[in-house]
Amino acid sequence: STHVTSARGAAQVLVASNRGPVSYAVQEDGSLRAKRGGGGLVSGLSAIGPDAGALWVCSALSDGDREAVARGVGEDGVRMLPIPAEVHADAYNGVANSVLWFVHHMLYQTPLEPVFDAGFWRQWENYGRYNRAFAEALADEAAEGAAVLVQDYHLTLVPGLLRKLRPDLRIGHFSHTPWAPVDYFRMLPDRVATEVLEGMLGADRLGFLTRRWADAFTACATKLAGGLGGTQVGVHGLGADAEFLRARSHEPDVEERIEALRAEIGPAPSGEPRRTIVRVDRTELSKNIVRGLLAYRQLLADHPEWHERVAHVAFAYPSRQDLAVYRDYTAEVQRVADGINAEYGTPTWTPVVLHVKDDFARSLAAYRIADVALVNPVRDGMNLVAKEVPIVSDEGCALVLSREAGAHEELAEDALVVNPYDILDTAQALHTALLMPQPERAERSKRLSAAATALPPKQWFLDQLNALTA
Ligand code: F6P
Repeated sequence: STHVTSARGAAQVLVASNRGPVSYAVQEDGSLRAKRGGGGLVSGLSAIGPDAGALWVCSALSDGDREAVARGVGEDGVRMLPIPAEVHADAYNGVANSVLWFVHHMLYQTPLEPVFDAGFWRQWENYGRYNRAFAEALADEAAEGAAVLVQDYHLTLVPGLLRKLRPDLRIGHFSHTPWAPVDYFRMLPDRVATEVLEGMLGADRLGFLTRRWADAFTACATKLAGGLGGTQVGVHGLGADAEFLRARSHEPDVEERIEALRAEIGPAPSGEPRRTIVRVDRTELSKNIVRGLLAYRQLLADHPEWHERVAHVAFAYPSRQDLAVYRDYTAEVQRVADGINAEYGTPTWTPVVLHVKDDFARSLAAYRIADVALVNPVRDGMNLVAKEVPIVSDEGCALVLSREAGAHEELAEDALVVNPYDILDTAQALHTALLMPQPERAERSKRLSAAATALPPKQWFLDQLNALTA
């Protein structure tokens, strides 16, 4: 072998992802304020904890000085890479979130998009740089024969690059998103499609959230890259962390927010609490928040008996606001919610209670009081909200669930399943959910919770590690 063994790092297990466990804001006095990272990836990986002895390599995300963040934080077991701002912007906002995310979630409005012009190819170069920075840091930190678990579409080239630098390593990659069908995936320029597939096929093992996404990847590899080669493909359906959620959702700050939320929702004319239809999402195009609101409006139009007796509690937390299309979508969510309140609201009733300021304790409060949870993405890798609500809900909650969410593969039996594009179908499911007798809701929630916790995050991680090192 040609490697210099003396230069090896010490880490036996490494995780790599764009977003790490926390992101930082640089305060006026130069100090750093930490905030828990959002999204399914962080929820899954945070449960591993520093005690597992893994080194987590991520990019130093902040709204301020990245280098200061990379230097200044002493999180145990985390190495933050000071990727230059313009490289990160092209890789993250450009290629990862405007191209690969759109392809896998099938979000393009195809008569106009995508446009692969000269600007795209500059972004693609920076995506390569970004991936190389990760591969080099991992090569540098990994001990001889270590296991490396690379996460998500931001880092598809890392397995191939790392394989060349360190053939001794066991390399895994896990996708937290759906995978596109072949005919959609090959909208990508041929060179990009090939490099993404070949980059990922540099791994010993690829993991997906559901069989559906794993099969879609295999179809792309077979059709466009000559097959899987020696790469294994496995399915690991990330579940929710029940122990953490149950404990966290009974902390005093959550109790306080339940009080506040109840006051904001107000009582029905009977004096009983109003029924609540809860949704909690990043304000993300694939989450289908606008059609969810339209379905609620349809429910109010078709069923005046719910007027004054129901509230739609919608939490839509800002996400990827550097992208105009996300800013526009955020504004559209607000506009449609305001429209419903203008049309149906009364001095005593606000039909839509919309909050856009991210607050984890308030999300848990909404989970606890939910009568109905609405999870209607047009396409979603898994969707952990669908798994979390039944676990946390106090009295049992009916779940209206899109058939296009990965979670559908595990939760279909006890959910009310909808076609997310079909407003009337979704409105009807909301009505059925509101009418579901409480004992049935409780029974279904129990079974949903059992399914939702089948593979808790720690086990999800260990299963992948064991499969990789076996
Ligand atoms: O869990 C899926 C995921 O796409 C992660 O890859 C990502 O970190 C998360 O959602 C949230 O998105 P972002 O990191 O862009 O805020």
